[in-house]
Order: sequence, then structure tokens, then C-alpha cells
Amino acid sequence: MIKIGLIGAGFMGSMHAACYEALAGRGDFKVTAVADDDPDKAAKLAAKFGAAVYPSAEALIQEGDVNTIDICLPTFMHFETASAAMRKGCNVFVEKPACLNEREAEQLLALQRETKTQVMVGQCIRFWPEYMELKRLASDNVYGRLLMGVFKRVSPRPGWAWNGWLHDPEKSGSAALDLHVHDVDFVRSLLGGDPDRLTAETVARQGANGHIFSLYRYGDAVISLEGGWDYPETFPFEMAYRVSFEKATVVFSSAATPALRIYENDGNIIEPKLDELSISAGDGGGNISSLGGYYNELHYFLECLSAGREIANSTLQDGCDSLRLTLREIASASRP
Ligand SMILES: NC(=O)c1ccc[n+]([C@@H]2O[C@H](COP(=O)([O-])OP(=O)(O)OC[C@H]3O[C@@H](n4cnc5c(N)ncnc54)[C@H](O)[C@@H]3O)[C@@H](O)[C@H]2O)c1
Repeated sequence: MIKIGLIGAGFMGSMHAACYEALAGRGDFKVTAVADDDPDKAAKLAAKFGAAVYPSAEALIQEGDVNTIDICLPTFMHFETASAAMRKGCNVFVEKPACLNEREAEQLLALQRETKTQVMVGQCIRFWPEYMELKRLASDNVYGRLLMGVFKRVSPRPGWAWNGWLHDPEKSGSAALDLHVHDVDFVRSLLGGDPDRLTAETVARQGANGHIFSLYRYGDAVISLEGGWDYPETFPFEMAYRVSFEKATVVFSSAATPALRIYENDGNIIEPKLDELSISAGDGGGNISSLGGYYNELHYFLECLSAGREIANSTLQDGCDSLRLTLREIASASRP
């Protein structure tokens, strides 16, 4: 049985717990332990599963009845926690970004090779239905060659973070590593790797990169990306893309209705209905659309572990490569 230790019971830990509840009956797994600095938060999530409560990541990894660790801790704790979990022989799901810098990425990858553990990074946009559909259209060559694209991820300044960790660039990597990395990772997966060329600019406030703009060139294709969270708290979150192929332009915005439209060059407008949005949750049915890619990625993770199949999507290598590309953007932006 896959015995999961969920570490971090904040915003993302609660989201993962909701996914595990929705996934009940879809595999031989159980959340057996939950850890958080705040015992009340840990106890609240643990009660959903009858899981044991631990006061810290270290205690859970060393003492818990677990073989799989799900890390939903602030980003600056990913490296130590993922390392400890791998050393204990556990398989690992770690939230994005995988870690904060090149040195940590190198060491995590080396440790994974040494321990032969399975490690997946929560680059959930690869599993978000509308982005999966875009990837399918490109991979199946439905509308010909991809010519250009615009990707956007903007949000109000996040107010929920434990001890304000998101606003300390040393701890979160700022909007570039926390928010924009989602689009960087998706574009890498869509276009098959790093761009041939890139430029980027950041808008810094109070010592942190609140906003980043970048431009990639892949052969003939041009991709522009915008990511930032320096907006007022009333500003609505939006993730969006607009991608043109030879025979159609595909447009998605989480803020629009319908969210996804395809404008074919011959005049048709298509509003695809995506099956993934109506997967029923567990044995009891119900709609999991609010869990989106979080549900799909954890489903994939558990399926791979259950089948003894190697994780092939959103691997630790993918997560580290996307981190590196984002760091290249930041470096490019800081040049005079
Ligand atoms: N995939 C996504 O779309 C997405 C969205 C939000 C956050 N994230 C990522 O998830 C991770 C967590 O972010 P969050 O928003 O949930 O943060 P959060 O601040 O809401 O939660 C962090 C939790 O960690 C706990 N904690 C702190 N130190 C601890 C320790 N030593 N041991 C155990 N618990 C400890 C805190 O009490 C808090 O409950 C980050 O890496 C973030 O980038 C991903």
C-alpha cells in the first residue's frame, strides 16, 4: 500500500488533502501521517484520514508509518525535506518550484539517482485540462505548426503565506519562481525543451521581483510570457494563453466564459468541452472541477507508484530544468 505522509497543512496541503479525499477508491493508498508546525492545522487535515499527527517534517519522516512523502512546505524547506525523504527511501511528491537554486537542483538530482526513489514535482499546469488540450492539439498536429503564443499568470499579492514567507525572495524566489515558473514549465513541455534564445525584464519593488516579462524564440516560433503578483488584493487571478497554429488560434482565460475557444482559420469557432472537468470523484461521485490539475497530477503520481511505472511527466528533472530556465530569465533581466 502507498502510505502517504503529507507535510505542510497550509494552502497547498489543504488542497492536496481535498484531492486525496476525492481520489479515495481510486488506488491502494492512504494518508497515514500529517505534519505541520501548527498542531491544529495538522490535526484538522489528519482527521479526514484517521492519520497520525507530527509536529515537524523531520519527525514525520523519521518516525511515521510512511513510504511516500508529499511536501507542501514553503519553498525554502523543499530541499532539506525532499533530501531527508529520499534518504529514508521514500518516494516523493514535492510542490513547485522543486527548490530554489542550481546547487540544490544538482544535489536533489544526484540523490535521486543514488537512492533510486521516484520523485515528481507539482508543476500542475501540465495536468490542467485546458493546457492538456493545447498540448494535445500541438502533439497531434491538429492545426499544423505552432507559430506564436502568449502566456499570462497574474494575481493579487498573496496574503495567506505562513509568516509572510512568499514575500521574502530568499524563501520563495519571488513571483518568477513561485508563479511564472508554471508557464515556463508548461512552455518547455509544449515546445520540447529550452528556447533557442530568450530575453527577460523584471519589475522589482521592495527588493523583490513582483513581475516578470520574457520572450522566447523556438526556431521560427515566438512565445511571450508574463507573470506577476504585484496587484491590489481586489485584482482577480487570471491564467491565460493565446496560441496560434498554421490553421487556428486557441484562446484560454480562467477569467472568461467560455474559458476555452478555438478560432479556426476557415471561420469556425469551437468551444471544446473537456472530459477531464467532469471526472467523478471517488465512489460517491461528485464534481472535481475545482481541483483541476491538482487532482490529475496526484492521480497520475499514485497511478505510477501503484503500477511500479516510472514517473515520466513532471519529473524531478523537468522541475529542475524549469527552475534553471526561470533562473536564466532572472539573470538575463538583471544585466544592465
Ligand atoms: N501548484 C500550485 O499551483 C501551488 C499553489 C500555491 C502554492 N504552491 C507551493 O506549495 C508550497 C506551499 O505553499 P502554501 O501556499 O501552501 O504555503 P502556506 O504558507 O499556506 O503553508 C505552509 C505550511 O507549512 C507549515 N510549516 C512551516 N514550517 C514547517 C515545518 N518545519 N514543519 C512542518 N510544517 C511547517 C506552516 O505552518 C504552514 O501551514 C510552496 O512551495 C508553494 O510554492 C503551489
